[in-house]
Amino acid sequence: MSIISTGPQLGQGADEEKNSLHYTVNMGASNALDALASTSLRCVECSALYPAIEAGQSDHAMPLPRYRCECGGVLDVEMTFSLPRQSSQVVGGDYKVFLDFEAEADVAPSAGAAWRQLFDERAATPPIWSVSSDASLLDSSGVWRYRELILPAPEQYVVTRPEGNTPLYPVGIENCGPGRIGHRQIGLYAGLERFFLKHEGENPTGSFKDRGMTVGVTMAHLMGASAVACASTGNTSASLASYAAQAGMRGIVFLPAGNVAGGKLAQTLAYGATTVQIEGDFDDAMRLVEQVCNELGIYLLNSLNPFRVEGQKAIGFEILQQLDWQAPDWIVLPAGNLGNTSAIGKALRQAYQLSMISHVPRFAAIQAEGANPFYRSFMQNFAIRESVDAETLASAIKIGNPVSYTRARRVIEETNGIVEQVSDDEILAAKAVIDRAGIGCEPASAATLAGIRKLVERGVIKRDERVVGVLTGHLLKDSKTGMPQGGNGIAIKPTIDAVRSVLKI
Ligand code: F0G
Repeated sequence: MSIISTGPQLGQGADEEKNSLHYTVNMGASNALDALASTSLRCVECSALYPAIEAGQSDHAMPLPRYRCECGGVLDVEMTFSLPRQSSQVVGGDYKVFLDFEAEADVAPSAGAAWRQLFDERAATPPIWSVSSDASLLDSSGVWRYRELILPAPEQYVVTRPEGNTPLYPVGIENCGPGRIGHRQIGLYAGLERFFLKHEGENPTGSFKDRGMTVGVTMAHLMGASAVACASTGNTSASLASYAAQAGMRGIVFLPAGNVAGGKLAQTLAYGATTVQIEGDFDDAMRLVEQVCNELGIYLLNSLNPFRVEGQKAIGFEILQQLDWQAPDWIVLPAGNLGNTSAIGKALRQAYQLSMISHVPRFAAIQAEGANPFYRSFMQNFAIRESVDAETLASAIKIGNPVSYTRARRVIEETNGIVEQVSDDEILAAKAVIDRAGIGCEPASAATLAGIRKLVERGVIKRDERVVGVLTGHLLKDSKTGMPQGGNGIAIKPTIDAVRSVLKI
């Protein structure tokens, strides 16, 4: 199967001197160019095409990163997917797969079956907990398991924890087993019979950001970058800090001062990133970090970086694999900067194009009422790209001018999707339900359940449709917002009578 880009090759524009500060000329430069030869960047606004990496001006110069088109539009990765030819043999109970690559395969249903088999075999490989065994480490990552569809990086450059392999909790009224009586409360709250929660907060640093970050930092490694940066409402920064530390790079994060939850800030500092608090909001920090990266030669790791989006596609592939490749009717997720909507939507489109699934689910992106530019645009059939001064207690999605607007709009339009908004009170009520069920999540994630409940009430999502809701961040990320008051309980004397009186039994 080939999804190949065509069109004029543009680019070679950036000033190499300006970009040189934090890039080292390493042996990776030519490897990177070779590895990404069949990968291009397409402008989502004007369709201009650029090479994935632009060569430096001399033979041994470092490659140059590109985050935007000359027209200012954001870029989308296009590549040729090479289906590895495989033959499986059962040898003494061991299951071995031999691979050799072919450049072109057919998009026949059989190709879809071959892709599924490849990923299922990798998922079945028992993880070997040895960092010296990179190949098995790749297979045990919920991102690199799908590597042919993510990034053709040489294995020795991959920076992985590993990440992914997050649970898909069955929480619907019908699909909750007897051992999940508590989880069923979530299905009852949503009004759904067959409902799953994909908990991306159970990634190594506690959010879905690790999926994009393993790919972003791998790219940084390939490029020879020694410093990486992002603007963040907290989760991207924690993830960047962790992966940068692993790769021996300097991490630099720009945060909206006073608007980052304590757990996220603590992680970022503990992992050793340089933390710059901005007097302004996330949108100000985002504008600044782009300028900083371009002028100071630091590799940018926001989802403006198209390779981060490629990593986050793995959420979509993993959902499909966990559902035995039976695509759900709906995928619902919280929406802020819109990177995740773009990524999971792209994954589902590609899985369909590769004949891995028979239909593409509808997407519902849920915004907080006070941070709802995408919702406002949707309500006008996307005639106008709105921006707002964002205000919500779900600080992760307090974003007024989302970078991935155009990419996400395509997902909503292509999937006959919908954008909904929910109030902070609705977010807190939904969070309490998820928390009390014993699963737990941070406030922004609960927008998913609040939005689903609303869409079921409105009859947009039908009670018997199969729905996957994405939880994006861990409960402990934000230990203040929406937490039960007086949580520590009362201190009592260590006597049985005192216990009886507290428990009222
Ligand atoms: N949920 C959580 C927990 C998040 O941290 C974010 C974004 C989102 C949802 C929204 O995802 O931006 O792809 O639409 N957090 C970013 C950050 C902005 O900096 O950590 P999106």
